[in-house]
Amino acid sequence: MTLPLANLPRHVAIIMDGNGRWAKKRLLPRYAGHTAGTETVRKVVQFCTEIGIECLTLFAFSSENWRRPEREVGMLMDLFLNALQREANRLHKNNVQLRIIGERSAFPQKLQDKIQQVEELTASNTGLKLRVAANYGGRWDLVQAFQKLALQAQAGLLNPQNMTANSLAEHLALNDLPEPDLFIRTGGERRISNFLLWQLAYTELYFTEVLWPDFDRENFQLALQDFASRQRRFGRTGDQVEQNKTC
Ligand code: IPE
Ligand code: IPE
Ligand code: MG
Repeated sequence: MTLPLANLPRHVAIIMDGNGRWAKKRLLPRYAGHTAGTETVRKVVQFCTEIGIECLTLFAFSSENWRRPEREVGMLMDLFLNALQREANRLHKNNVQLRIIGERSAFPQKLQDKIQQVEELTASNTGLKLRVAANYGGRWDLVQAFQKLALQAQAGLLNPQNMTANSLAEHLALNDLPEPDLFIRTGGERRISNFLLWQLAYTELYFTEVLWPDFDRENFQLALQDFASRQRRFGRTGDQVEQNKTC
């Protein structure tokens, strides 16, 4: 299969769903699915680095995932810590800049320390900007941005009447990246599940039945090809977009 070199998205955001069902199909415990899913993360990061995707944001744990059985949550925390320990050097060697977005204060201290350490290690890397959303929720992101603006207004540093969409966007978790061009959700569900609510306003959405542990290069390329075939209009007419291309 050939790679679509033109129209490559700058920023891809993925909901990595289907680990549990992948395990269930094999009569394995759910954690086996999550473990297999971390392998997919490694391969997808590698692939994005190879083809020159600039930014990749992965949804690893939502603010609602605390509702899962305590054992599964604990296991996910352990897996996250292990993956950071195992992958830190490889990410650094591959010039990947890793940051975690989400409310990290709820994590075990050991995990918080490791996150900080890996972020510092990779901070000045200039390759793939990798963002992992953990204890992240789109609503949480908006609320914490509103809070910052409200505090500025209260301190007399911001006139609420001068507030724009940009003032808010500056305080959101992905404020240093372009908005996602392509959103992928694996596992067959067609919903956003409180992922990037603000940032997905004009993102192209792609849903696949493939379960996350089975998601491979070929599946990723299908998503990229589908993206490359879309016309992004941002409110304009199709004719306007075509004209802009030729002049
Ligand atoms: C996604 O896979 C991983 C997390 C939410 C942590 P799931 O665990 O949601 O897998 P399914 O949806 O049950 O198959
Ligand atoms: C979304 O998946 C969150 C992550 C992949 C981390 P869920 O499996 O938690 O979503 P719902 O509950 O099916 O909407
Ligand atoms: Mg799920």
